Amino acid sequence: MVSFKINSEDVSFEGDNSTPLLWVIRDHLRLTGTKFGCGIGQCGACTVHVDGVAQRSCITPVSAISGRDITTIEGLAPSDDELDPVQQAWLEHDVPQCGFCQAGQIMAVADFLKRFPNPTDADIDANVTNLCRCGTYVRIRKAIHRAAELITGEAS
Ligand code: FES
Ligand code: FES
Repeated sequence: MVSFKINSEDVSFEGDNSTPLLWVIRDHLRLTGTKFGCGIGQCGACTVHVDGVAQRSCITPVSAISGRDITTIEGLAPSDDELDPVQQAWLEHDVPQCGFCQAGQIMAVADFLKRFPNPTDADIDANVTNLCRCGTYVRIRKAIHRAAELITGEAS
């Protein structure tokens, strides 16, 4: 059995320890905001936070997260009445097209901005590597800069 915390709740999984975390999140815990894209760690649709760090859950065996703290898109906002700044910026810039990749994009960016609070376009290009089949990259970039403003309180 593997026990861990997800979105501040204690949970456990009694199946095969090699099951990818993505399938535990979606099929066992029924949190379907996290998406399956490629299944080989390339697209980022399955990005969640493990102890606050973005990780691709399709290539993470559930055994690797024993005792750790997972956050999915469902748990990113601080409360029902308040969005995470990245979510707020995404809304302001109307980023999603089909939306499939967007939970993963937001989770990746929320972690990225902790490491790069005032990112350049080059920082974004080098570090935000999630794929979007709809090509929303221009809006993603604008929303990342807006989220940075919201977090730091500085307008650029
Ligand atoms: S589904 Fe995990 S990286 Fe593509
Ligand atoms: S919004 Fe459609 S895949 Fe990104």
